[in-house]
Amino acid sequence: MVKIGVILGTRPEIIKMSPIIRELKNKNFFLIHTNQHYSENMDKVFFEELNLPKPDYNLNIGSGNHGDQTGRMLIEIEKVLLNEKPDFVLVQGDTNTVLAGALAASKLSIKIGHVEAGLRSFDRKMPEETNRVLTDHISELLFAPTETAAKNILNEGISSEKIHVVGNTVVDATLQNLEIAEKNENICKFLSEITENKKYFLLTLHRAENTDNFEILSKLVDSINEVSKKYEKNIIFPIHPRTYKKLSEFGLIDKIKDNSLIKIIEPVGYLEFLILEKNAELIITDSGGLQEEACILNIPCVTLRENTERPETLYVNSNILAGSDPENILNCIEKMIKSNRHWNNPFGDGNSGKLIVNIVLGGKKN
Ligand code: UD1
Ligand code: UDP
Repeated sequence: MVKIGVILGTRPEIIKMSPIIRELKNKNFFLIHTNQHYSENMDKVFFEELNLPKPDYNLNIGSGNHGDQTGRMLIEIEKVLLNEKPDFVLVQGDTNTVLAGALAASKLSIKIGHVEAGLRSFDRKMPEETNRVLTDHISELLFAPTETAAKNILNEGISSEKIHVVGNTVVDATLQNLEIAEKNENICKFLSEITENKKYFLLTLHRAENTDNFEILSKLVDSINEVSKKYEKNIIFPIHPRTYKKLSEFGLIDKIKDNSLIKIIEPVGYLEFLILEKNAELIITDSGGLQEEACILNIPCVTLRENTERPETLYVNSNILAGSDPENILNCIEKMIKSNRHWNNPFGDGNSGKLIVNIVLGGKKN
């Protein structure tokens, strides 16, 4: 029986791997968690809400500079792989966990399946772009979510035999869990408490190129303040720990806290977050996963970045790139508020987890 090692480490990987882990139930697999994310509300809450098995290996890597963090992951993942000897390793997305997992497997000649292969921002300044490109080029199975993603890797010379267009597991996760969330009384109560039953915009922000640069973060804070005033709208802001830290370090946090229309809250669980997304008038974000989820849930999205590796959302007009210029952000928000919400979801029909597991299990050559 084919043996599969699933490696994950951050919030979006736990969420997007969950449909695959469910499909692997009763199969020969083990789970490695690097603990790149470790705070309870960035990690444990998702295992509980998504009813996932506890990881077989917690590597307790935590935070650090890129080389330090990736290097420590590589050392620890290799030890586990040497012991477990899987036929395949599955990684998802573009984090340091993904690169370390793929590299450790590659050096041991273990085949790699890359879930969400082929995404490109064409911006090598982003650490995620390096992680994606390198992982794609050492993978045996590349699970591209869309034809656009498949084309990117074909253009880089990767053989079409390795590429499978399977949709994005985020659709599986969204559809499976929105229904559960909507039926859950506690979550509906949470929604009305947080929103006070008023209309609101939902905001998230965590991308290094936005949070780690004072000028940019400062402009984004000013823009968000402007937006709340212009529309007299509550802005619900479940804040990533990185962003809270940087806003505090740069002395910008009070600019947000002094605005009673902006509600900073701790990061919330996935069920709570899906409900917050589904009921928002607009989503403002720099997250990759949110651009997809907004598109799936038919909520207009304004992306606070100069580029995106999810161009499909731009093609269907569910999303717009606003960058960090305050005037441009206000224009983009005005445009998206008026947008009609009848686009088609380009990320698949919610069967990606099943397709991926079938391909991997049938993929053993000997
Ligand atoms: C990482 C990924 C990014 C992904 C994001 C998902 C890389 C290079 N970046 O960014 O692609 O979009 O996860 O959220 O892999 N922290 C905590 N508790 C935690 C985790 C982080 O307090 O559980 C704080 C620490 O101060 C840490 C900082 O957040 O230094 C950044 O964490 P890190 O995992 O390095 O990067 P993310 O910004 O989360
Ligand atoms: N999310 C969540 N709680 C929050 C914020 C986000 O459950 O408070 C989920 C969201 O639904 C999406 C994922 O986290 O599935 C996105 O993670 P993030 O924005 O951290 O990473 P990215 O997608 O940009 O890599």
